[in-house]
Amino acid sequence: MEKIPVFAPHIHIDTLKHLTDALNIGWLGMGAITKEFEERIATFLGLDNRYVVATNTGTSALHLALRVAGIGPGDEVITPSFNYVADHQAIRMTGANVVMCDIRDDNLGIDCEKAELLITEKTKVIIPLHFAGIPCDQTGVYQLAEKYGLRVIEDAMHAFGTTINKRKMGSYGDITCFSFDPVKIITSIDGGCVVVNSLEEVQRLHRMRLLGVDKDTTERYKNQVRHVFLET
Ligand SMILES: Cc1ncc(COP(=O)(O)O)c(C=O)c1O
Repeated sequence: MEKIPVFAPHIHIDTLKHLTDALNIGWLGMGAITKEFEERIATFLGLDNRYVVATNTGTSALHLALRVAGIGPGDEVITPSFNYVADHQAIRMTGANVVMCDIRDDNLGIDCEKAELLITEKTKVIIPLHFAGIPCDQTGVYQLAEKYGLRVIEDAMHAFGTTINKRKMGSYGDITCFSFDPVKIITSIDGGCVVVNSLEEVQRLHRMRLLGVDKDTTERYKNQVRHVFLET
C-alpha cells in the first residue's frame, strides 16, 4: 500500500540555487546572507522600530532572549507545561527555575488565570507558546506582564506568518522568538531568530550569539574575506 507522508520538505530548485550561491561566495561564516535573511524577515513581518537577530537555533533564540532580559540564577520563568523541552532547557541554562503552568482547552496556550496564581516576587518572565501557530491568550499574557512588571518572551516557533487582527506575530509586543528547524514553517535546516524593540538589546544579542564578538558584526556582514577555490 502506498504511504502518504504527513509532510515532505519543500526543497526546490531555488533552495538549491541559494545554497550553491552561498557556497560560491566563499565566505563560510555568518555574513551578508545572514544580514539579508534578517532584513527579509523584518520586511515579511512588517517591523517598525523592531529588530531581528538571527541565531543558530530556536533554542538559542530563547536562551539569548532570556539573557538579554537579565534572567539568571534564582529567577522564575512561567511557561506552559504543554511545551517543547527546549523552553525548559533554555530557562535552566540561565540558572533560572521553570514554573510550569496549565494550558487552556480552547487554544492549547497558557491559562492566564492559573499563571497569575504562580507569580511570586522571583517571577521575571512569562514565555507563552503559540502552539501549532494558534495564538494563545496574548492579551491576557501582556495584561499580567503589565500588572506584575514582567518581561514577555513569546515562543512563536510554530507561528511564523500567523496573523492576528492583520498584524503578524512578532511585529509587536516584547520579545519574540522563531525557529527555522526542519519541521517549522520555513527552514534553514537549523536556525532561529529573536525580535526585540531596542538597538541596545540588538547589540547585546550580537555579542552573545558569537562568543562575545560584536565589533565584527558589520565587517562580517560585508563578506570581505574570500575563499580561494582550488582546482583539482
Ligand atoms: C515550541 C518549541 N519551542 C522551541 C523549539 C526549539 O527550536 P529549535 O529546534 O530551532 O532549537 C521548538 C522546536 O521544535 C518548539 O517546537
